[in-house]
Amino acid sequence: MPEKYDFLVLGSGGAGLSYALRVARFGSVAVITKKDSAESNTNYAQGGLASVVASEDRFEDHINDTIVAGAGLCHQEIVEMVVREGPSVVRELLDWGARFSTKEGKLDLGREGGHSQNRIVHAADRTGKEIEETLLSAISKHTNIHVFEHHFALELITEHHLGRKVTRNDDDIHCYGAYVFDTRSDKVEAVLAKATLIATGGVGEVYLHSTNPSIATGDGIAMAYRAKARVANMEFMQFHPTTLNISEANSFLISEAVRGKGGILRDRNGYAFMSGYDDRAELAPRDIVARSIDDYLKKSGNDSVYLDVTHINKDLLSESFPHIMETCRSFGVDITKQWIPVVPAAHYLCGGVLTDRDGRTSIHGLFCAGEAACTGLHGANRLASNSLLEAMVFSKRAAEASAAHIRERSWITGIPEWDDSGTVNAEEAILIHHNKQELQQVMWNYVGIVRSDLRLERAFRRTHLLYEETEDFYQRTRVSVALCELRNLIANAYIIIRSAMSRKESRGLHYTTDYPRQVDEARHDTII
Ligand code: FAD
Ligand code: SIN
Repeated sequence: MPEKYDFLVLGSGGAGLSYALRVARFGSVAVITKKDSAESNTNYAQGGLASVVASEDRFEDHINDTIVAGAGLCHQEIVEMVVREGPSVVRELLDWGARFSTKEGKLDLGREGGHSQNRIVHAADRTGKEIEETLLSAISKHTNIHVFEHHFALELITEHHLGRKVTRNDDDIHCYGAYVFDTRSDKVEAVLAKATLIATGGVGEVYLHSTNPSIATGDGIAMAYRAKARVANMEFMQFHPTTLNISEANSFLISEAVRGKGGILRDRNGYAFMSGYDDRAELAPRDIVARSIDDYLKKSGNDSVYLDVTHINKDLLSESFPHIMETCRSFGVDITKQWIPVVPAAHYLCGGVLTDRDGRTSIHGLFCAGEAACTGLHGANRLASNSLLEAMVFSKRAAEASAAHIRERSWITGIPEWDDSGTVNAEEAILIHHNKQELQQVMWNYVGIVRSDLRLERAFRRTHLLYEETEDFYQRTRVSVALCELRNLIANAYIIIRSAMSRKESRGLHYTTDYPRQVDEARHDTII
C-alpha cells in the first residue's frame, strides 16, 4: 500500500467507516482492517441505535435514562451533546441508504432495558449488518477512500520512533501514522498520516464467554496505551444478561429488545425471578439483570435461566426477531414453543482511550471513536443501544476536528523501517494459543460480574506471568497476528485488573464483595 495518506483509519466498523466518509472531501483516506471489511462488532449489533425521534419522546428523558444507568460517572455535558445530536446521525444514516424498520410510514422504535420510552431505531434484529453494509456501499463509491483488508495495525508511530524518550506525563506527543502488517504479503510498512483515527472496537475476546466476534482484541487501546495515551474506566466491562446457553452457539446474543417486547426471565421451574431483584424486572438496566441472573444461578446451583417468549404473538416474533428465531431454531430451540436457555457473557467495554468532546486523545494527531474510546457518555454502565449512537456522533465530531488538524500539519521524515528480524517457531505458535486460553479463563473466573480483592490479586499475578512469557516470545519472534493480539489482550487485561483494583467501591458494572457500596469520594474516572 502507498505510504502516505492525509487520514489513516484503523478499523472498518461503524466508527471507522462513517469517519472515512466524512473526511474524504478533505483529503486522501486509508482504512485498514485486519480481516474482511465487514467483520466488526458493528456487523453483529442486533437491538439498534437509541435516539429521540418520536414526537412523544424528549431529549431530557434520554439524557436522564443515560445518566441513571451510568451510576454517577457520566459527563453531563457529553450526554446532552450526544443525545441532542442523535436525530441528525439517524438522518445521515438514512441519507447514506440505511433501511431501518418502519411502521405506518414512520421509524418503528423498539424498547430496551433502562429506557423510559420506545426509542431504538432498528432494522429488525440485524441493525448492525444494515449499518455496516450501508457504510461499505457508500464508501465503494468514493475514489478518495482506499480500504485495505487483511492489514493489521501493529503500533502507532510517535516521536518514540524518532529516538525521543516519551513518557506517560508527556503532553507533547504526536502521532504520525502506524506500522501496518499486510498479513497476505507478510510485510510490515510504515503508513504515514496527518491524522490517525483509532476505531478498532472493544475487547470482548479477553473473556472466555463473549458476544463479540474474534476481532475484538482491544488492539487500538493497547497500541494507544503503549504510545502513552491516556486510557480510562477500563474496569467497567458490561456483561449482557442473555446469550444463548448452548456451547456450539458461541454466546450468540439474544437481544435485549426481546425483553422489550415482553420476554420473561424464568428459572427452570417457571418462576419469574427478576421481580424479586428490581421493580423494573426484565427491563432494569442490564448490569442489574446480569448480576441478578448470576446471583440466582449461584444460589440455585442451576447452570441456566430461561427467556420465555412463548406468550408473544408468533407473527410479531418472526417480524421483529427473524435472525434470533432462525439461529435458535438451528440449535434446536423453537422460540414460539420453548423457553430459550440463556446466561450472561462479556459484551461491551465502557472504558477505552480517553477523548475530549471532539474525539481528540491526549496524543496530537491521534483521534479515537467508537467502542475503543472513553468519551464520558457511558460512565460506569452503558445504556442499551447508546454505543452505535456514540460511535456515529463521535466519528462525526472527530472528522471535523481532524479536517481542521491536517491543515496545520506537514509530513514527517526519518521514520525507520520496522525491524522484522526473528524466527517463526511452530512450537511457540501453540504456546500462544494456550496463553490466550489461560488469559480468557483467568479473566472470566476472577474479573467477571462479581469481583473481590482476592480474585483480582490472583488475576493480576497470573496475568503478569502470561505477560512475561508473551513479551519474551515477542522479542524473539517475527510478528504474527496471533502473537500481537495476545500481547494486546494481555495489555488490556492488565489495565482492566489494575483499574478494578483501584476502585474500592461497587458502582455500575464494577461490583466487588469487599466494597459492596457506592462511595461518594470514589465518584471519578479511573485514568491511567
Ligand atoms: P467495531 O465495529 O468492532 O469495528 C472495529 C474494527 O476494527 C473492525 O473492522 C476490526 O477488524 C478492526 N480492527 C481491530 N483491530 C485492528 C487492528 N489491529 N488492525 C486493523 N483493524 C483492526 N450497540 C448498540 O448500540 N446497539 C446494539 O444493538 C448493539 N448490539 C450488539 C450486539 C453484539 C452481538 C455486539 C458484539 C455488540 C453490540 N453492540 C450494540 C455494541 C456495538 O455493536 C459496538 O460497540 C459498535 O458497533 C462498535 O463499533 P466500532 O466501529 O467502534 O468497532
Ligand atoms: C441488544 O440487542 O441487546 C444489544 C444492545 C446493545 O448492546 O446496546
